[in-house]
Amino acid sequence: MCTMGSLRHFLLFTAAVIAVSSAVTAAHNITAILEGHPEYSQFNDYLSRTKLADEINTRTTVTVLVLTNGAFSSVTSKHPLSVIKNVLELHVLLDYWDGDKLHDISKGTTLSTTLYQTTGNAPGNLGFVNITDQKGGKVGFGSALPGSPLASQYTKSVKQIPFNISVIEINTPIVVPAVLNAPAPAASDYNLTGALEKAGCKTFASLLISSGVIKTFEKAADKGLTIFAPNDEAFKADSLPDLSKLSNADTVALLEYHAVAEYTPFGTLKTSKDPISTLAANGAGKFDFSTETSGDSVTLHTGVDSSRVASTVIDSTPLCIFTVDKVLLPAELFGNAPSPAPGPAPEISPAPAPESDAPSPSAEASAPSPLLSPPAPPTSSPGGAPADSPTADSENTTASKNSGAVNAPALLLLALLALSVYLS
Ligand SMILES: *[C@@H]1O[C@H](CO)[C@@H](O)[C@H](O)[C@H]1NC(C)=O
Ligand SMILES: *[C@@H]1O[C@H](CO)[C@@H](O)[C@H](O)[C@H]1NC(C)=O
Ligand SMILES: *[C@@H]1O[C@H](CO)[C@@H](O)[C@H](O)[C@H]1NC(C)=O
Ligand SMILES: *[C@@H]1O[C@H](CO)[C@@H](O)[C@H](O)[C@H]1NC(C)=O
Ligand SMILES: *[C@@H]1O[C@H](CO)[C@@H](O)[C@H](O)[C@H]1NC(C)=O
Repeated sequence: MCTMGSLRHFLLFTAAVIAVSSAVTAAHNITAILEGHPEYSQFNDYLSRTKLADEINTRTTVTVLVLTNGAFSSVTSKHPLSVIKNVLELHVLLDYWDGDKLHDISKGTTLSTTLYQTTGNAPGNLGFVNITDQKGGKVGFGSALPGSPLASQYTKSVKQIPFNISVIEINTPIVVPAVLNAPAPAASDYNLTGALEKAGCKTFASLLISSGVIKTFEKAADKGLTIFAPNDEAFKADSLPDLSKLSNADTVALLEYHAVAEYTPFGTLKTSKDPISTLAANGAGKFDFSTETSGDSVTLHTGVDSSRVASTVIDSTPLCIFTVDKVLLPAELFGNAPSPAPGPAPEISPAPAPESDAPSPSAEASAPSPLLSPPAPPTSSPGGAPADSPTADSENTTASKNSGAVNAPALLLLALLALSVYLS
């Protein structure tokens, strides 16, 4: 009896550990890779400042074209952060390219998709890079826009983790006038309520206006703001408490709970491990939520309910707007709600588990489903438009291998949970 109980606890604990460790799939850390190379410190610094490092770390097949501080300064000295970010996105290829592969391009020339293509801001071929094996063993890179020069040359390999990440150096930035000269919109240029209404969040937008919270958002926007806007369906959910009963102050807190005073793009959400503090946080409570990543999907856990990040409305440094499919209910206001979400189960939280904030599979029945559901197809990714649209050349390579990969930790997790249910 007792032995059975502790065995069951052990199995649940093991399952929890697997659940937590398989939630974050990043197998590489671009910041750490470049840290050992002071000659790329500017490039590395800007990958962190633009949060592109997080995006790169969530990609399983990626090539980073790095530039030395000297080569990169021509970009950083003349342009605002939003433009530097777009240029950097052109230097992140969504395929694996190492020295061997560069010298073995069929027909000697190909186009590779870049991270810039996934932003949805890239018309035509703007989001692609032309890689051409040139005479004399040189490999040239340039924009895929017709007529662009192949002005950047491959100089050397920096780091390879086959077929996850390759870091190679090129001698000069891939510059595209259309990217460099694109107007850099300030956050204040956006009509927040207009964007929310267009994205199907009319109820949320009208609450922001009637409560005056829109002014708080507008003020915060230029310094960094991420809004999680519940769609109109979310406000019609049967499970939603009667929000009209809230006091004015509580309504303000509820709305402010849907925003974070920091630019937090999707890649950053996917990799964040600590609870995220919202605009509602003040002396009166924590007003934070935690995130859970499964494949390409991110779920926010408030402690009362859970909500999926459904789409990206705006991702433009320093402003991000996502839609979510449920109203986020902070524990500070709705802690006594009828069906609180399971918190970390005390029985299986042992010693110093650093990830103990992560949702634990304390409810055997509900835990496996999010982990076992296969990663959403790239097209539905809130991270951006045509996520991993492969080029002709990458179709048969590693890029497509990821999607079909069997989730071994998830299968093991299922087996452990089944066993523990059987034993109980
Ligand atoms: C490549 O990434 C996959 C998935 O993230 C990981 O399982 C694998 O261990 C990585 N390969 C190497 C060599 O690190
Ligand atoms: C990546 O490496 C940097 C520098 O070593 C470190 O500060 C950061 O926490 C790491 N990121 C992750 C997600 O482990
Ligand atoms: C890449 O650019 C070169 C030079 O402009 C061009 O000849 C070649 O066709 C381009 N490659 C592709 C795949 O478009
Ligand atoms: C913002 O958009 C809304 C809805 O489209 C519109 O009613 C409002 O006038 C716009 N505000 C500004 C300042 O343009
Ligand atoms: C991909 O592989 C299939 C079968 O192996 C082959 O018929 C097809 O031509 C390949 N496509 C490319 C783009 O290499």
